[in-house]
Amino acid sequence: MGKFTSAGAFRLGGRTGKSLIIRHLSLTNFRNYASLELELPPNIMVFQGDNAQGKSNLLEAIYLLATSRSPRATNERELINWSALREELPVCRLAADVQKARGNLSLEIALRGKPAALSEAEDSFSPWHSAPKAPPIHKRIRVNGVVRRAVDLVGQINVVLFSVQDINIVGGEPALRRRYLDITNSQIDSHYLRQLQRYHRVLWQRNRLLRQIAFNQASPDELSFWDQELVQTGAYLVVQRDHMVAALEHLAQAIHDEVSSDQGKLRLAYLRSIDKKRGKGESRIEEIAELFARSLQAARKKEIAQGMSLVGPHRDDLRFLTNETDLGVFGSRGQQRTVALSLKLAEAKFMLSKTGEHPILLLDDVLSELDVQRRRHLLRSVTSYQQVLMTTTSLDQFEPDFLEQAVLFRVNQGRVEPLSG
Ligand SMILES: Nc1ncnc2c1ncn2[C@@H]1O[C@H](COP(=O)(O)OP(=O)(O)OP(=O)(O)O)[C@@H](O)[C@H]1O
Ligand SMILES: [Mg+2]
Repeated sequence: MGKFTSAGAFRLGGRTGKSLIIRHLSLTNFRNYASLELELPPNIMVFQGDNAQGKSNLLEAIYLLATSRSPRATNERELINWSALREELPVCRLAADVQKARGNLSLEIALRGKPAALSEAEDSFSPWHSAPKAPPIHKRIRVNGVVRRAVDLVGQINVVLFSVQDINIVGGEPALRRRYLDITNSQIDSHYLRQLQRYHRVLWQRNRLLRQIAFNQASPDELSFWDQELVQTGAYLVVQRDHMVAALEHLAQAIHDEVSSDQGKLRLAYLRSIDKKRGKGESRIEEIAELFARSLQAARKKEIAQGMSLVGPHRDDLRFLTNETDLGVFGSRGQQRTVALSLKLAEAKFMLSKTGEHPILLLDDVLSELDVQRRRHLLRSVTSYQQVLMTTTSLDQFEPDFLEQAVLFRVNQGRVEPLSG
């Protein structure tokens, strides 16, 4: 591990990152945690526990406090403790005390059961989904005690979550890769998140209009306003994704070279639907806007016929290749897992370079799926971060040297206790 300097910075073999540490985590009626008060040291932490004890739930809570979204729940009601849900007004609360170089920070998310009809329309636009959804519960976010919107929370603490499901970023649906690009970009750029929210609102309106035009209930002339809006918000997303993918490719290549026996270089290709080309990380926003506007013109007939928007960042994809072979389609499970590992470690480095802060690493039971070489690489890599939370069912997966420098906890039925020895 590195050492703290007096200025609250963290020095790692000559590289300095600003400090970002969760000091305390407090959970009430969150998943299987009825009540948890946990001090977190600025170290590598290993949480050991049998299956179904609350390990993933713990990391999910931190991810939620960082991004305002659960990585796995489709409905936020799932997050509220089942026994609490039987109460008349169930309340679930997550809170963290955070130490940053610029000062301390307190973050809080409270979820309350609430009739859907009372939900506010503004809150219901999820930046990660393309259609407005009525929230089944009421979510209140506080930063330093003041009620804030989700966009104000995202980016306060940056996290990188790596779990076995991340293999799906490589081999799963394009929507997962877009979500990946969006969440990562949103964590480091609040303007991106605001543009993303706006884009999805515009997209929703434009799709509605396209359907009306298809049924002769509106005129195609009305599209030009929404086209402009779509281009204005969407071009920024495309440009930022382009930059991010280029930076991630560079970082992931080096990691992939080290952990993989594959001969070929790992390539990341951002496939833009606006020109059916690969981005190169050097596009200018004016060029992208022009391309976008032109492709909307070209697609107009088809869009009206199908009643939906067919070009734009909501239709883009990201592909992973070696030797021009698409690993999402042809890669073995092991190859895909190696790409996911390289991508996640690259993401952490990318965040550090963009924000100057070490992101908090959340590694959910990932060692069991890695072979010895990749496991070693991962364990070596994480030691250069400030705060790392790893979960496992068995401590045997770790080398003794590694465990000696880590702080160990045991997770048992929604309780977390320090593990001595
Ligand atoms: N809203 C909820 N209320 C109460 N319990 C819940 C709720 N949501 C999930 N659980 C339960 O929490 C338990 C722990 O889940 P979690 O995913 O954290 O387990 P885990 O320790 O990561 O296990 P594994 O090793 O299998 O991954 C599960 O039994 C799950 O059914
Ligand atoms: Mg788990």
